[in-house]
Amino acid sequence: MAKMEVKTSLLDDMIGVGDMVLLEPLNEDSFIDNLKKRFDHSEVYTYIGSVVISINPYRPLPIYTPEKVEEYRNRNFYELSPHIFALSDEAYRSLRDQDKDQCILITGESGAGKTEASKLVMSYVAAVCGKGAEVNQVKEQLLQSNPVLEAFGNAKTVRNDNSSRFGKYMDIEFDFKGDPLGGVISNYLLEKSRVVKQPRGERNFHIFYQILSGASEDFLCKLKLERDFSRYNYLGLDSARVNGVDDAANFRTVRNAMQIVGFMDHETQSVFEVVAAVLKLGNIEFKPESRVNGLDESKIKDKNELKEICELTGIDQSVLERAFSFRTVEAKQEKVSTTLNVAQAYYARDALAKNLYSRLFSWLVTRINESIKAQTKVRKKVMGVLDIYGFEIFEDNSFEQFIINYCNEKLQQIFIELTLKEEQEEYIREGIEWTHIEYFNNAIICDLIENNQTGILAMLDEECLRPGTVTDDTFLEKLNQVCATHQHFESRMSKCSRFLNDTSLPHSCFRIQHYAGKVMYQVEGFVDKNNDLLYRDLSQAMWKASHSLIKALFPEGNPAKINLKRPPTAGSQFKASVATLMKNLQTKNPNYIRCIKPNDKKAAHIFNDALVCHQIRYLGLLENVRVRRAGYAFRQAYEPCLERYKMLCKQTWPHWRGPARAGVEVLFNELEIPEEEFSFGRSKIFIRNPRTLFKLEDLRKQRLEDLATLIEKIYRGWKCRTRFLLMKKSQIVIAAWYRRYAQQKKYQKIKSSAIIVQSYIRGWKARKLLRELKHQKRCNEAATIIAAYWHGTQVRREYRKFFRANAGRKIYEFTLQRLMQKYFLEMKNKMPSLSPIDKNWPARPYLFLDSTHKELKRIFHLWRCKKYRDQFTDQQKLIYEEKLEASELFKDKKALYPASVGQPFQGAYLEISKNPKYKKLKDAVDEKIIIAEVVNKINRANGKATSRIFLLTKNNVLLADQKSGNIKSEVPLGDVTKVSMSSQNDGFFAVHLKEGSGAAVKGDFLLSSDHLIEMATKLYRTTLSQTKQKLNIEISDEFLVQFRQDKVCVKFIQGSQKNGNIPTCKRKNNRLLEVAVP
Ligand SMILES: Nc1ncnc2c1ncn2[C@@H]1O[C@H](COP(=O)(O)OP(=O)(O)O)[C@@H](O)[C@H]1O
Ligand SMILES: [Mg+2]
Repeated sequence: MAKMEVKTSLLDDMIGVGDMVLLEPLNEDSFIDNLKKRFDHSEVYTYIGSVVISINPYRPLPIYTPEKVEEYRNRNFYELSPHIFALSDEAYRSLRDQDKDQCILITGESGAGKTEASKLVMSYVAAVCGKGAEVNQVKEQLLQSNPVLEAFGNAKTVRNDNSSRFGKYMDIEFDFKGDPLGGVISNYLLEKSRVVKQPRGERNFHIFYQILSGASEDFLCKLKLERDFSRYNYLGLDSARVNGVDDAANFRTVRNAMQIVGFMDHETQSVFEVVAAVLKLGNIEFKPESRVNGLDESKIKDKNELKEICELTGIDQSVLERAFSFRTVEAKQEKVSTTLNVAQAYYARDALAKNLYSRLFSWLVTRINESIKAQTKVRKKVMGVLDIYGFEIFEDNSFEQFIINYCNEKLQQIFIELTLKEEQEEYIREGIEWTHIEYFNNAIICDLIENNQTGILAMLDEECLRPGTVTDDTFLEKLNQVCATHQHFESRMSKCSRFLNDTSLPHSCFRIQHYAGKVMYQVEGFVDKNNDLLYRDLSQAMWKASHSLIKALFPEGNPAKINLKRPPTAGSQFKASVATLMKNLQTKNPNYIRCIKPNDKKAAHIFNDALVCHQIRYLGLLENVRVRRAGYAFRQAYEPCLERYKMLCKQTWPHWRGPARAGVEVLFNELEIPEEEFSFGRSKIFIRNPRTLFKLEDLRKQRLEDLATLIEKIYRGWKCRTRFLLMKKSQIVIAAWYRRYAQQKKYQKIKSSAIIVQSYIRGWKARKLLRELKHQKRCNEAATIIAAYWHGTQVRREYRKFFRANAGRKIYEFTLQRLMQKYFLEMKNKMPSLSPIDKNWPARPYLFLDSTHKELKRIFHLWRCKKYRDQFTDQQKLIYEEKLEASELFKDKKALYPASVGQPFQGAYLEISKNPKYKKLKDAVDEKIIIAEVVNKINRANGKATSRIFLLTKNNVLLADQKSGNIKSEVPLGDVTKVSMSSQNDGFFAVHLKEGSGAAVKGDFLLSSDHLIEMATKLYRTTLSQTKQKLNIEISDEFLVQFRQDKVCVKFIQGSQKNGNIPTCKRKNNRLLEVAVP
């Protein structure tokens, strides 16, 4: 959110007047009254133009908070109530934006708040300038240099518990953006006499008390110190403790600050060692010792302290001891050693302590400068802050006060010069006629002090350098001669007899009328202090220290660099540094803070008119106002002026369109302000008298009230009207909404009814349609299904052959064919021999061919048998036919059969025709003989066998006697009915004859033959061919045989083998004939 531009002014809510320039009437009383009024309202700051008057409140005020910083940040100087931040902001901004180096000059008495003011300025600048880690470190270092310097350079005085005992000027350096880069600190004249002696009620420098209170036992021991102020001669005892000051805590703060600033641990250690050495120096005491030549010589009372100092600093004890007893003076290349008396020894001791301490202080400043030095070489913008001791008027004023006051004189002068110059320049810039202004110029006082020939400092130097006895009195005498006629110099003894009877002026004093008042100086000590003499023996002893810091503090002690020229006196040194400072300040844009002390009690809420009046006088503040008002009391740029007062004139209110200056002219004309009261500059209006301004302000206030009423009136009217309009509008809106609502309701009702009716009709229509469509759809579907089936059938019919389902069978058949093919081809190669009795046959390759394989084997066998048979001749065929017949008849029936297979059927075993014995027989037969064989005829009665010749012819069976060949029986084949035999391995058989036939009278034949099978077969065949009847052949182990009238049972039994292989036949009884077959 853009910050609302609140136009404020210094003139708003003013207590008294914020700017003294506007004070009316202007005199000392009104001036003080104004200050007092503001002070009572906690307004400690008041302006004189751009100068800030600051009154020490002696209490914390809530006006330095970060919120305040923000409030004053980037605001115009006169915009807000007077504040030190406004001045700081103005300075910082013109440094940053207009590239003007700035200096902030803070003046005032001791305790008036200068140091605090300088810290406030620095902290404000730190708060508003750049941010960032690096910048913050620089800021921190700059800010932390303060506690260090305060510890070593500040002390409690009667006027201020934390009085700066040195002058300080700090240059803060910025880059083009306004970010701090670093800084340089210059210090002026440390009040070193305080080290050895303090006025009543005052203390030595803080650091001594801080060490003793705050250092750890261990550290104290290292420094060879004891935690007891009363042990040290240099510490003022009556006010060693200060109310509200915690030395121990401050010690920690200082050490911490030293660390932040960048002191190394060993450096800090060395610094404290030097401080300890200074403290201990004060405890060295001397006693007189008479010497032969009657002169007194000093001796150190107790060497213990000296020893410890030497241990602490690494100085040879004898060297230091000697330096306290002798003094070597060099004159014309000759060294003369003189002894020191006790007083001189004390003087030497104190001189050493003071020098050590002040040099340490200077070293600290140098060391801090090293740390805070800007790191770049780029051009820097500089803001200098000068916090220098204020004007001092004590009861006893000595050389220090003289110097300090001289410095203040110079500052006053530069103030006058610069303020007037500024004023003058502004007039010229604005094109306004410059009128001369009367003011007191203190240049004459400065001249009295610093004039190179006749100045007091020059004379002091002259006196110090002069050979012969030089005392403070001779110096005063000289002053009395030279300065007698000077208007601002007063002395009882001066040639000018003005002060001869002035009893307030002692003889050993001189008085100077400073711009800030008359100050009387005790001349005692001037010469010594100006000489600032340290015996060379001492500086040489210091240089010989093994303590590197101490050695560095006394470079002149190096014998190789002996410089016979006297070192510059304190006065001339100071004068030179003040001159440099002035030169430096003159190049910068000055900003003044004039500090005023409201009371002597360091107390809040007390405003001592007399004290303030005195300060106002010597600070020349009234003159300051007069100078500022000499021409014109008030000036303001046209724009803000017009902005502030435009409501006082009709033409400029509420807007002025033209240039601001013309607007202001119109405005002033309209208001009838007398012409001599104001003047138009180039960019500003100048108002001569504050009265005019206040008149303007009053008019403005009144007008503002009127305007407020007007605004209120208009606002109220506007508010009522808007409210009415709003209500009217609301009513219309509500009515509209209601009407709309009602119509909507009605409409919705009609609409919903219509929708219902419509939906019923539509439903009915739709259902009807749906029915039709459904029917149509079903017809379509049916037709489609039928067509689909028909097509399917056709397609399947057509494509069946291509169906996959048949593929399996085809493949199967094909495979089968291939397998068969393979099988047959393989079989071809594996065929067994053609021998019918060969039993070999290749193994079956596939299970499924089992039956084929077997069948094939069978066919093959039949085939080869046929082949075999085809080879036979008719003769052979016959033989086999017979054999086959035999097989059919007896195979598996008669045990004898297998043995007969291998025997060829010969038929005619007996060669009847060739044997003459049978000639008769042969003749009798006369037919072809089929069988001629010898058989055994079994006797029916006893079972004994008788050989007979058995003949078979075509028609008959004949039995003949073997020996004679006489035919015993002849049976036509037709009479043979049956042949019986056993199933066993015997050659018995019975030939059954037809009952009633001729041959049957004697009964059936029971015969035995070796060729039973052949005989039975041939008998069978012959019978068949002759009678066409099958001869009955009975095979049974029990059969009946007809013996004459009896039937005898022939039974075959398993007999023993005792008769060899020949079966035996035995008649058991009438009915049974038993044949035992082995
Ligand atoms: N602006 C202030 N607000 C509160 N107290 C202040 C202010 N200025 C000064 N003081 C008090 O006055 C004392 C002396 O101020 P200091 O700045 O040391 O004086 P100077 O440097 O002029 O001798 C400080 O210690 C502090 O207590
Ligand atoms: Mg101070």
